[in-house]
Amino acid sequence: MDGKAIVVTGAGRGLGEAFAVHLAQAGAAVVVNDIDGDQADRVARRIRRGGGAVSASAHSVADPEQAAAIVEQCVAEFGAIDGLVNNAGLNYEALPWEDTPARAREVVEVNVLGVIYTGLAAISRMRAAGGGAIVNISSGASLGQRTLGAYAASKGAVSSLTCSWALDLEECGIRVNAVCPKAYTRMVRSSERASRHTSPDRLPELVAPLVHFLLDERSAGITGQVVRCTGSELHIVGQPYFKAPILHRPVWDVDSLTTAFAEVLGGHLEPYGLEKRLPPRLRKWLAPVLTA
Ligand SMILES: NC(=O)c1ccc[n+]([C@@H]2O[C@H](COP(=O)([O-])OP(=O)(O)OC[C@H]3O[C@@H](n4cnc5c(N)ncnc54)[C@H](O)[C@@H]3O)[C@@H](O)[C@H]2O)c1
Repeated sequence: MDGKAIVVTGAGRGLGEAFAVHLAQAGAAVVVNDIDGDQADRVARRIRRGGGAVSASAHSVADPEQAAAIVEQCVAEFGAIDGLVNNAGLNYEALPWEDTPARAREVVEVNVLGVIYTGLAAISRMRAAGGGAIVNISSGASLGQRTLGAYAASKGAVSSLTCSWALDLEECGIRVNAVCPKAYTRMVRSSERASRHTSPDRLPELVAPLVHFLLDERSAGITGQVVRCTGSELHIVGQPYFKAPILHRPVWDVDSLTTAFAEVLGGHLEPYGLEKRLPPRLRKWLAPVLTA
């Protein structure tokens, strides 16, 4: 990462801190952004003590002007932006009938619009410079998870955005991938359920090499991918696809739809949600925490 300038959002603690520290140790100059400015300063001091080049930012990714300012700070301090890690995120748990528009909006503003605002500013600089790499932090919850509707939707949006941007930006030399992490952080500790199925030894540092790899030339040619890493497990997250058989009729009315589902499509329905997609052995083991 020598000579690279990289922005990590939400880097004042947790996964973002681990990514920023790892990238700085690998030689990158890093902008440590976090809306919690004290935490961003603390991480910047930690990196500086280790001999790294760093600049702290307390801007919010959820505001388009502040998001652009994070990217401009990187260019002003380090001359370019070669990499962006869209990591800042929020979550909360609520059953749909207990959820509120205000909480849902806040999650979408940070997790979706924050990624878009910071990404658009970075893309404009990277495109002018002839290339770059973006890693968006998504979540396994994007497959659907109980009590996480707004959060799951926000992370599904991040995965869709990753694929769309990867298509648009391939010819500009900009690669865009997403990571679904799992690590014991404040976000996990704040949820009784999540902390029950995330062991404290799942350190955020264990996910940092994957982010490094995806920003590095060693992953050249890899774009549009969603990769999950729990520390020990590493795998690609499959993409939704148009599933065969594809039935054809000039027009579908309710009668023909009923017949199609009764005779053909009913046998091809998908398991929905993370818990129903798990292999049976894991599903049985995880049932008490998934349904809690
Ligand atoms: N921890 C996990 O197991 C896990 C699993 C899947 C996805 N994720 C994702 O990983 C990312 C990091 O999560 P974490 O577990 O380290 O959480 P965390 O709560 O420890 O850290 C998130 C950081 O983002 C910052 N932030 C929030 N809003 C911001 C804003 N508007 N602008 C700038 N910074 C802002 C917070 O101040 C905080 O420091 C998130 O996107 C989260 O959704 C985490």
